[in-house]
Amino acid sequence: MSLNLFPLTARVDARNHLEIAGCDVVDLAREFGTPLYIFDDAHLRARAAEIRDAFQARWHASRSLVLYATKAYYSPYVARIFKDAGLGIDITSEGELEIARRVGLAPDKIYLHGNNKTPTEIRAALTLGVTHIVVDHLDEIELLARLAEELRVTPRVLLRLAPAIDPHTHRHLATGIAESKFGLPMRTGMAMEAARRVIELAPRLTLVGLHAHIGSQIFDLDPYRDTIAALTDFADELQSTTSFELQELDLGGGWGVPYTEGENSLKVDQVAEAIVDTLLNSKFKIQNSTSPTSDLQSPISNLKLVFEPGRALIASSAVAVYTVGAVKEIRGVRTYVAVDGGMGDNIRPALYGAQYTARIANKMNEAPTTRVAIAGRYCEQGDILIDKVDLPRVSVGDLIAIPCAGAYQLPMASNYNLIPRPAVLAAREGQARVIRRRETVEDMLRCDVDE
Ligand code: LLP
Repeated sequence: MSLNLFPLTARVDARNHLEIAGCDVVDLAREFGTPLYIFDDAHLRARAAEIRDAFQARWHASRSLVLYATKAYYSPYVARIFKDAGLGIDITSEGELEIARRVGLAPDKIYLHGNNKTPTEIRAALTLGVTHIVVDHLDEIELLARLAEELRVTPRVLLRLAPAIDPHTHRHLATGIAESKFGLPMRTGMAMEAARRVIELAPRLTLVGLHAHIGSQIFDLDPYRDTIAALTDFADELQSTTSFELQELDLGGGWGVPYTEGENSLKVDQVAEAIVDTLLNSKFKIQNSTSPTSDLQSPISNLKLVFEPGRALIASSAVAVYTVGAVKEIRGVRTYVAVDGGMGDNIRPALYGAQYTARIANKMNEAPTTRVAIAGRYCEQGDILIDKVDLPRVSVGDLIAIPCAGAYQLPMASNYNLIPRPAVLAAREGQARVIRRRETVEDMLRCDVDE
Protein backbone atom coordinates (compact mmCIF):
# COMPACT_ATOMS: atom_id res chain seq x y z
CA MET A 1 0.00 0.00 0.00
CA SER A 2 1.34 3.38 -0.92
CA LEU A 3 1.87 6.38 1.28
CA ASN A 4 0.54 8.69 -1.43
CA LEU A 5 -1.97 10.40 0.78
CA PHE A 6 0.54 10.98 3.56
CA PRO A 7 2.88 13.99 3.70
CA LEU A 8 6.04 14.11 1.58
CA THR A 9 8.45 12.89 4.27
CA ALA A 10 6.27 9.96 5.41
CA ARG A 11 8.10 6.61 5.51
CA VAL A 12 7.83 3.24 7.16
CA ASP A 13 10.75 2.82 9.55
CA ALA A 14 12.67 -0.29 10.59
CA ARG A 15 10.14 -0.98 13.36
CA ASN A 16 7.32 -0.92 10.75
CA HIS A 17 6.06 2.28 12.28
CA LEU A 18 4.89 5.33 10.41
CA GLU A 19 7.55 8.00 10.40
CA ILE A 20 7.07 11.68 9.55
CA ALA A 21 10.04 13.96 8.96
CA GLY A 22 12.30 11.38 10.57
CA CYS A 23 10.11 11.14 13.69
CA ASP A 24 8.57 7.81 14.69
CA VAL A 25 4.85 8.47 15.08
CA VAL A 26 4.48 5.80 17.77
CA ASP A 27 7.14 7.55 19.83
CA LEU A 28 5.44 10.91 19.29
CA ALA A 29 2.10 9.48 20.42
CA ARG A 30 3.74 8.07 23.53
CA GLU A 31 5.42 11.38 24.35
CA PHE A 32 2.62 13.81 23.51
CA GLY A 33 -0.51 11.68 23.85
CA THR A 34 -3.39 11.29 21.43
CA PRO A 35 -5.41 12.53 19.62
CA LEU A 36 -2.43 14.18 18.03
CA TYR A 37 -2.09 16.24 14.88
CA ILE A 38 1.33 16.20 13.21
CA PHE A 39 2.28 18.68 10.50
CA ASP A 40 5.12 17.90 8.12
CA ASP A 41 7.02 21.17 8.00
CA ALA A 42 8.87 20.38 4.76
CA HIS A 43 5.63 19.37 3.06
CA LEU A 44 3.90 22.59 4.03
CA ARG A 45 6.77 24.74 2.77
CA ALA A 46 7.04 22.78 -0.48
CA ARG A 47 3.33 23.12 -1.14
CA ALA A 48 3.37 26.88 -0.55
CA ALA A 49 6.26 27.28 -2.99
CA GLU A 50 4.66 25.00 -5.57
CA ILE A 51 1.38 26.91 -5.59
CA ARG A 52 3.06 30.33 -5.59
CA ASP A 53 5.39 29.32 -8.44
CA ALA A 54 2.64 27.75 -10.57
CA PHE A 55 1.07 31.20 -10.95
CA GLN A 56 4.24 33.26 -11.02
CA ALA A 57 5.48 31.13 -13.92
CA ARG A 58 2.40 31.97 -15.95
CA TRP A 59 1.60 35.53 -14.94
CA HIS A 60 3.90 38.36 -14.02
CA ALA A 61 5.35 37.45 -10.62
CA SER A 62 4.70 40.83 -9.05
CA ARG A 63 1.12 40.74 -10.28
CA SER A 64 0.09 37.32 -9.07
CA LEU A 65 -0.72 36.94 -5.41
CA VAL A 66 -1.64 33.78 -3.60
CA LEU A 67 -3.60 34.42 -0.43
CA TYR A 68 -3.88 31.59 2.04
CA ALA A 69 -7.50 31.16 3.14
CA THR A 70 -6.77 31.14 6.87
CA LYS A 71 -10.08 29.48 7.78
CA ALA A 72 -8.55 26.16 6.67
CA TYR A 73 -6.25 26.32 9.74
CA TYR A 74 -4.34 29.28 11.09
CA SER A 75 -1.85 29.52 13.89
CA PRO A 76 1.33 31.57 14.38
CA TYR A 77 3.35 28.59 13.10
CA VAL A 78 1.36 28.34 9.86
CA ALA A 79 1.32 32.13 9.52
CA ARG A 80 5.13 32.30 9.61
CA ILE A 81 5.55 29.57 7.02
CA PHE A 82 3.22 31.23 4.54
CA LYS A 83 4.64 34.67 5.26
CA ASP A 84 8.15 33.36 4.51
CA ALA A 85 6.83 31.92 1.24
CA GLY A 86 5.59 35.38 0.23
CA LEU A 87 1.90 34.54 0.46
CA GLY A 88 -0.80 36.91 1.64
CA ILE A 89 -3.94 35.87 3.51
CA ASP A 90 -7.69 35.96 3.22
CA ILE A 91 -9.20 36.54 6.66
CA THR A 92 -12.70 36.66 8.11
CA SER A 93 -12.26 37.61 11.73
CA GLU A 94 -10.32 39.59 14.28
CA GLY A 95 -8.74 36.37 15.52
CA GLU A 96 -7.20 35.68 12.12
CA LEU A 97 -6.17 39.33 11.87
CA GLU A 98 -4.47 39.16 15.27
CA ILE A 99 -2.28 36.22 14.25
CA ALA A 100 -1.25 38.08 11.08
CA ARG A 101 -0.43 41.14 13.18
CA ARG A 102 1.66 39.12 15.61
CA VAL A 103 3.81 37.61 12.87
CA GLY A 104 4.16 41.00 11.17
CA LEU A 105 2.48 40.19 7.88
CA ALA A 106 2.36 43.24 5.60
CA PRO A 107 -1.20 44.64 5.82
CA ASP A 108 -1.34 45.12 2.04
CA LYS A 109 -1.27 41.33 1.75
CA ILE A 110 -4.38 40.92 3.88
CA TYR A 111 -7.82 40.75 2.28
CA LEU A 112 -10.82 41.04 4.60
CA HIS A 113 -13.77 38.82 3.73
CA GLY A 114 -17.09 37.89 5.26
CA ASN A 115 -20.80 38.06 4.55
CA ASN A 116 -21.47 39.96 7.78
CA LYS A 117 -18.37 41.79 8.88
CA THR A 118 -18.96 43.74 12.06
CA PRO A 119 -18.03 47.41 12.38
CA THR A 120 -15.49 46.33 15.02
CA GLU A 121 -13.83 43.91 12.62
CA ILE A 122 -13.71 46.40 9.78
CA ARG A 123 -12.38 49.10 12.09
CA ALA A 124 -9.67 46.76 13.43
CA ALA A 125 -8.57 45.84 9.92
CA LEU A 126 -8.52 49.42 8.63
CA THR A 127 -6.68 50.59 11.74
CA LEU A 128 -4.00 47.98 11.20
CA GLY A 129 -3.58 49.26 7.64
CA VAL A 130 -5.38 46.47 5.79
CA THR A 131 -5.90 47.87 2.31
CA HIS A 132 -8.22 45.36 0.65
CA ILE A 133 -11.82 44.79 1.66
CA VAL A 134 -13.93 42.27 -0.24
CA VAL A 135 -17.45 43.63 -0.04
CA ASP A 136 -20.28 41.11 0.15
CA HIS A 137 -23.49 43.17 0.23
CA LEU A 138 -25.00 46.60 -0.35
CA ASP A 139 -25.28 47.64 3.31
CA GLU A 140 -21.60 46.94 3.78
CA ILE A 141 -20.70 49.59 1.22
CA GLU A 142 -22.28 52.34 3.31
CA LEU A 143 -20.76 50.98 6.51
CA LEU A 144 -17.32 50.77 4.97
CA ALA A 145 -17.53 54.29 3.57
CA ARG A 146 -18.55 55.61 6.98
CA LEU A 147 -15.72 53.83 8.79
CA ALA A 148 -13.19 54.84 6.14
CA GLU A 149 -14.27 58.46 6.57
CA GLU A 150 -14.02 58.19 10.35
CA LEU A 151 -10.52 56.69 10.17
CA ARG A 152 -9.38 58.88 7.25
CA VAL A 153 -8.35 55.92 5.10
CA THR A 154 -9.13 55.02 1.49
CA PRO A 155 -9.61 51.25 1.24
CA ARG A 156 -9.44 49.34 -1.98
CA VAL A 157 -12.62 47.47 -2.62
CA LEU A 158 -13.24 44.21 -4.42
CA LEU A 159 -16.80 43.10 -4.93
CA ARG A 160 -17.64 39.51 -4.18
CA LEU A 161 -19.93 38.36 -6.95
CA ALA A 162 -22.27 35.38 -7.00
CA PRO A 163 -22.11 34.35 -10.65
CA ALA A 164 -24.72 31.55 -10.41
CA ILE A 165 -22.27 28.80 -11.28
CA ASP A 166 -22.57 25.24 -10.03
CA PRO A 167 -19.14 23.93 -9.00
CA HIS A 168 -20.32 20.29 -8.73
CA THR A 169 -19.44 19.71 -5.10
CA HIS A 170 -21.27 19.03 -1.80
CA ARG A 171 -24.21 21.45 -1.52
CA HIS A 172 -22.81 22.95 1.69
CA LEU A 173 -19.64 23.81 -0.21
CA ALA A 174 -21.23 25.54 -3.22
CA THR A 175 -20.89 29.27 -2.63
CA GLY A 176 -21.26 30.90 -6.04
CA ILE A 177 -24.69 29.55 -6.94
CA ALA A 178 -27.62 31.90 -7.53
CA GLU A 179 -29.16 31.28 -4.09
CA SER A 180 -25.85 31.55 -2.20
CA LYS A 181 -25.77 33.54 1.02
CA PHE A 182 -22.41 34.88 -0.15
CA GLY A 183 -21.75 37.68 -2.55
CA LEU A 184 -23.73 40.02 -4.76
CA PRO A 185 -26.05 38.19 -7.14
CA MET A 186 -25.15 39.02 -10.72
CA ARG A 187 -28.44 37.90 -12.25
CA THR A 188 -30.70 40.24 -10.33
CA GLY A 189 -28.62 43.35 -11.04
CA MET A 190 -27.54 43.75 -7.43
CA ALA A 191 -23.88 43.31 -8.39
CA MET A 192 -24.02 46.14 -10.93
CA GLU A 193 -25.86 48.38 -8.47
CA ALA A 194 -23.12 47.74 -5.89
CA ALA A 195 -20.36 48.50 -8.37
CA ARG A 196 -21.91 51.82 -9.32
CA ARG A 197 -22.41 52.76 -5.70
CA VAL A 198 -18.75 52.07 -4.80
CA ILE A 199 -17.63 54.10 -7.83
CA GLU A 200 -19.83 56.99 -6.67
CA LEU A 201 -18.12 56.94 -3.29
CA ALA A 202 -14.66 57.60 -4.76
CA PRO A 203 -12.19 58.79 -3.63
CA ARG A 204 -13.16 57.53 -0.16
CA LEU A 205 -13.55 54.02 -1.61
CA THR A 206 -11.76 52.78 -4.71
CA LEU A 207 -13.24 49.92 -6.65
CA VAL A 208 -10.20 47.96 -7.81
CA GLY A 209 -11.50 44.55 -8.60
CA LEU A 210 -13.88 41.66 -8.68
CA HIS A 211 -13.91 38.47 -6.66
CA ALA A 212 -15.68 35.13 -6.82
CA HIS A 213 -15.22 32.05 -4.68
CA ILE A 214 -17.54 29.47 -6.18
CA GLY A 215 -17.05 26.68 -3.68
CA SER A 216 -14.75 24.15 -2.12
CA GLN A 217 -13.41 20.66 -2.93
CA ILE A 218 -13.88 21.24 -6.67
CA PHE A 219 -12.26 18.99 -9.28
CA ASP A 220 -13.87 20.29 -12.45
CA LEU A 221 -12.08 23.24 -14.08
CA ASP A 222 -15.02 24.32 -16.24
CA PRO A 223 -16.79 26.18 -13.43
CA TYR A 224 -13.62 28.29 -13.07
CA ARG A 225 -13.58 29.01 -16.80
CA ASP A 226 -17.26 30.02 -16.61
CA THR A 227 -16.51 32.24 -13.62
CA ILE A 228 -13.76 34.06 -15.51
CA ALA A 229 -16.15 34.61 -18.43
CA ALA A 230 -18.85 35.96 -16.11
CA LEU A 231 -16.49 38.28 -14.24
CA THR A 232 -14.73 39.63 -17.32
CA ASP A 233 -18.07 40.27 -19.07
CA PHE A 234 -19.17 42.17 -16.00
CA ALA A 235 -15.91 44.16 -15.97
CA ASP A 236 -16.30 44.93 -19.67
CA GLU A 237 -19.76 46.30 -19.14
CA LEU A 238 -18.64 48.39 -16.20
CA GLN A 239 -15.55 49.68 -17.99
CA SER A 240 -17.56 50.76 -20.99
CA THR A 241 -20.05 52.75 -18.94
CA THR A 242 -18.00 54.14 -16.03
CA SER A 243 -14.47 55.20 -15.13
CA PHE A 244 -13.82 51.75 -13.67
CA GLU A 245 -10.64 49.89 -14.55
CA LEU A 246 -10.25 46.29 -13.54
CA GLN A 247 -7.00 46.18 -11.61
CA GLU A 248 -7.49 42.95 -9.65
CA LEU A 249 -9.27 39.74 -10.37
CA ASP A 250 -9.59 37.42 -7.37
CA LEU A 251 -10.75 33.95 -8.33
CA GLY A 252 -11.04 32.51 -4.84
CA GLY A 253 -9.92 28.99 -3.99
CA GLY A 254 -11.74 25.69 -3.86
CA TRP A 255 -9.26 23.35 -5.55
CA GLY A 256 -10.04 19.80 -4.57
CA VAL A 257 -7.62 17.38 -2.94
CA PRO A 258 -7.83 13.59 -2.58
CA TYR A 259 -8.62 12.13 0.84
CA THR A 260 -8.83 8.46 -0.17
CA GLU A 261 -6.90 6.16 -2.52
CA GLY A 262 -7.88 6.49 -6.15
CA GLU A 263 -9.82 9.70 -5.63
CA ASN A 264 -9.54 12.55 -8.11
CA SER A 265 -6.71 14.94 -7.70
CA LEU A 266 -6.25 18.29 -9.30
CA LYS A 267 -2.69 19.37 -10.05
CA VAL A 268 -1.90 22.97 -9.26
CA ASP A 269 -0.31 23.38 -12.68
CA GLN A 270 -3.57 22.31 -14.30
CA VAL A 271 -5.48 24.93 -12.33
CA ALA A 272 -2.99 27.68 -13.13
CA GLU A 273 -2.87 26.78 -16.79
CA ALA A 274 -6.65 26.63 -17.16
CA ILE A 275 -7.12 29.97 -15.44
CA VAL A 276 -4.40 31.85 -17.28
CA ASP A 277 -5.34 30.36 -20.68
CA THR A 278 -8.98 31.23 -20.19
CA LEU A 279 -8.10 34.75 -19.25
CA LEU A 280 -5.68 35.29 -22.12
CA ASN A 281 -8.16 33.92 -24.62
CA SER A 282 -11.16 35.76 -23.26
CA LYS A 283 -12.55 38.65 -25.24
CA PHE A 284 -11.94 40.90 -22.28
CA LYS A 285 -9.84 43.92 -23.17
CA ILE A 286 -7.37 44.20 -20.36
CA GLN A 287 -6.68 47.84 -19.58
CA ASN A 288 -3.35 49.47 -18.89
CA SER A 289 -1.57 47.09 -21.23
CA THR A 290 2.14 47.47 -20.92
CA SER A 291 2.52 45.66 -24.20
CA PRO A 292 0.08 45.74 -27.09
CA THR A 293 1.01 42.20 -28.06
CA SER A 294 -0.87 39.26 -26.71
CA ASP A 295 2.16 37.04 -26.41
CA LEU A 296 0.79 34.23 -24.30
CA GLN A 297 4.12 33.64 -22.63
CA SER A 298 4.55 37.13 -21.30
CA PRO A 299 2.47 39.20 -18.94
CA ILE A 300 0.11 41.24 -21.05
CA SER A 301 -1.23 43.68 -18.60
CA ASN A 302 -1.09 45.23 -15.20
CA LEU A 303 -3.97 43.10 -14.08
CA LYS A 304 -3.23 41.52 -10.70
CA LEU A 305 -4.43 37.95 -10.37
CA VAL A 306 -5.31 36.84 -6.87
CA PHE A 307 -6.09 33.33 -5.62
CA GLU A 308 -7.29 32.10 -2.25
CA PRO A 309 -6.64 28.39 -1.79
CA GLY A 310 -7.02 27.00 1.71
CA ARG A 311 -7.39 23.24 1.51
CA ALA A 312 -4.98 22.81 -1.42
CA LEU A 313 -2.25 24.58 0.56
CA ILE A 314 -2.54 22.71 3.82
CA ALA A 315 -4.77 19.62 3.82
CA SER A 316 -2.17 17.03 2.85
CA SER A 317 0.54 18.31 5.19
CA ALA A 318 -0.89 16.81 8.38
CA VAL A 319 -1.82 13.46 9.87
CA ALA A 320 -4.22 12.86 12.76
CA VAL A 321 -3.27 10.09 15.18
CA TYR A 322 -5.68 8.36 17.56
CA THR A 323 -5.45 5.49 20.04
CA VAL A 324 -7.83 2.56 19.78
CA GLY A 325 -9.71 2.06 23.06
CA ALA A 326 -12.23 -0.58 22.02
CA VAL A 327 -12.88 -3.04 19.22
CA LYS A 328 -16.53 -4.09 19.06
CA GLU A 329 -17.59 -6.71 16.59
CA ILE A 330 -21.34 -6.83 15.97
CA ARG A 331 -21.43 -10.18 14.25
CA GLY A 332 -22.94 -10.06 10.80
CA VAL A 333 -23.17 -6.26 10.93
CA ARG A 334 -19.84 -4.48 11.34
CA THR A 335 -16.82 -4.04 13.54
CA TYR A 336 -16.40 -0.73 15.30
CA VAL A 337 -12.94 0.46 16.18
CA ALA A 338 -13.44 3.21 18.76
CA VAL A 339 -10.77 5.89 18.96
CA ASP A 340 -10.07 8.68 21.46
CA GLY A 341 -11.03 11.49 19.07
CA GLY A 342 -13.83 12.00 16.57
CA MET A 343 -16.28 14.75 15.69
CA GLY A 344 -14.76 17.05 18.32
CA ASP A 345 -11.57 17.32 16.27
CA ASN A 346 -12.97 16.34 12.87
CA ILE A 347 -16.58 17.26 12.17
CA ARG A 348 -16.19 16.78 8.40
CA PRO A 349 -17.51 13.20 8.09
CA ALA A 350 -20.61 14.06 10.17
CA LEU A 351 -21.17 17.39 8.43
CA TYR A 352 -20.44 16.62 4.78
CA GLY A 353 -20.20 12.85 4.64
CA ALA A 354 -16.48 13.43 4.01
CA GLN A 355 -14.51 10.26 3.28
CA TYR A 356 -11.15 9.42 4.83
CA THR A 357 -8.79 6.50 4.92
CA ALA A 358 -6.48 5.22 7.67
CA ARG A 359 -3.47 3.06 8.47
CA ILE A 360 -2.35 1.50 11.72
CA ALA A 361 0.76 3.53 12.53
CA ASN A 362 2.35 0.70 14.53
CA LYS A 363 1.57 -2.05 11.96
CA MET A 364 2.54 -0.39 8.71
CA ASN A 365 3.89 -3.58 7.13
CA GLU A 366 0.85 -5.76 7.82
CA ALA A 367 -1.66 -6.40 5.05
CA PRO A 368 -5.30 -5.46 5.57
CA THR A 369 -7.48 -8.36 6.65
CA THR A 370 -10.62 -6.85 8.12
CA ARG A 371 -13.12 -4.19 7.17
CA VAL A 372 -13.94 -1.90 10.07
CA ALA A 373 -15.64 1.38 10.91
CA ILE A 374 -13.62 3.95 12.86
CA ALA A 375 -15.95 5.36 15.49
CA GLY A 376 -15.33 8.56 17.38
CA ARG A 377 -15.79 8.83 21.16
CA TYR A 378 -18.47 11.50 21.17
CA CYS A 379 -22.08 10.91 22.19
CA GLU A 380 -23.57 10.89 18.72
CA GLN A 381 -24.29 7.84 16.59
CA GLY A 382 -23.24 9.97 13.62
CA ASP A 383 -19.74 10.36 15.05
CA ILE A 384 -18.12 7.88 12.68
CA LEU A 385 -14.79 9.09 11.28
CA ILE A 386 -14.62 6.38 8.63
CA ASP A 387 -17.50 4.21 7.58
CA LYS A 388 -15.45 1.47 5.94
CA VAL A 389 -11.73 0.92 5.87
CA ASP A 390 -9.68 -2.24 5.40
CA LEU A 391 -7.03 -2.66 8.09
CA PRO A 392 -4.81 -5.37 9.54
CA ARG A 393 -6.20 -7.00 12.70
CA VAL A 394 -6.86 -4.10 15.10
CA SER A 395 -6.24 -4.33 18.83
CA VAL A 396 -6.76 -2.01 21.75
CA GLY A 397 -3.75 0.30 22.01
CA ASP A 398 -3.08 0.42 18.26
CA LEU A 399 -2.59 3.85 16.73
CA ILE A 400 -4.85 4.90 13.88
CA ALA A 401 -3.28 7.45 11.52
CA ILE A 402 -5.59 9.41 9.22
CA PRO A 403 -3.87 11.38 6.45
CA CYS A 404 -4.98 14.63 4.87
CA ALA A 405 -5.89 16.09 8.25
CA GLY A 406 -4.52 19.60 7.76
CA ALA A 407 -7.59 21.52 6.57
CA TYR A 408 -10.89 22.35 8.25
CA GLN A 409 -10.45 19.88 11.10
CA LEU A 410 -8.66 21.76 13.89
CA PRO A 411 -10.31 25.12 13.11
CA MET A 412 -13.76 23.52 13.23
CA ALA A 413 -12.99 21.59 16.41
CA SER A 414 -15.28 21.87 19.41
CA ASN A 415 -15.36 20.96 23.07
CA TYR A 416 -18.43 18.76 22.67
CA ASN A 417 -18.83 16.49 25.71
CA LEU A 418 -16.33 18.86 27.37
CA ILE A 419 -13.40 17.05 25.85
CA PRO A 420 -10.21 19.09 25.39
CA ARG A 421 -8.91 19.70 21.88
CA PRO A 422 -5.80 17.85 20.63
CA ALA A 423 -2.16 18.82 20.74
CA VAL A 424 -0.53 19.83 17.46
CA LEU A 425 3.08 19.17 16.47
CA ALA A 426 5.31 20.33 13.65
CA ALA A 427 7.90 17.76 12.62
CA ARG A 428 11.09 18.63 10.81
CA GLU A 429 14.35 16.74 10.30
CA GLY A 430 13.92 14.31 13.16
CA GLN A 431 12.58 16.88 15.63
CA ALA A 432 8.98 17.48 16.60
CA ARG A 433 7.87 20.57 18.46
CA VAL A 434 4.56 21.46 20.00
CA ILE A 435 2.85 24.25 18.07
CA ARG A 436 -0.32 24.00 20.10
CA ARG A 437 -0.36 22.35 23.48
CA ARG A 438 -3.15 19.98 24.37
CA GLU A 439 -6.07 21.78 25.91
CA THR A 440 -6.79 21.06 29.56
CA VAL A 441 -10.05 20.86 31.46
CA GLU A 442 -8.99 24.13 33.10
CA ASP A 443 -8.66 25.79 29.66
CA MET A 444 -12.15 24.68 28.73
CA LEU A 445 -13.73 26.06 31.88
CA ARG A 446 -11.87 29.37 31.85
CA CYS A 447 -14.74 31.38 30.39
CA ASP A 448 -17.47 30.02 32.64
CA VAL A 449 -18.63 32.35 35.38
CA ASP A 450 -19.86 30.68 38.56
CA GLU A 451 -20.70 33.01 41.41
N1 LLP B 1 -12.00 32.11 -0.26
C1 LLP B 1 -13.17 32.23 0.38
C2 LLP B 1 -13.89 33.51 0.33
C3 LLP B 1 -13.70 31.14 1.10
O1 LLP B 1 -14.86 31.26 1.73
C4 LLP B 1 -12.97 29.93 1.15
C5 LLP B 1 -13.49 28.77 1.87
C6 LLP B 1 -11.74 29.86 0.48
C7 LLP B 1 -11.29 30.97 -0.22
C8 LLP B 1 -10.88 28.63 0.49
O2 LLP B 1 -11.49 27.51 -0.05
P1 LLP B 1 -10.65 26.16 -0.22
O3 LLP B 1 -9.53 26.43 -1.19
O4 LLP B 1 -10.12 25.81 1.11
O5 LLP B 1 -11.62 25.17 -0.71
N2 LLP B 1 -15.39 23.51 5.99
C9 LLP B 1 -15.46 23.01 4.63
C10 LLP B 1 -14.84 23.97 3.65
C11 LLP B 1 -15.47 25.34 3.72
C12 LLP B 1 -14.79 26.34 2.84
C13 LLP B 1 -15.20 27.72 3.23
N3 LLP B 1 -14.63 28.75 2.43
C14 LLP B 1 -14.81 21.63 4.58
O6 LLP B 1 -14.37 21.15 5.61
O7 LLP B 1 -14.75 21.01 3.52
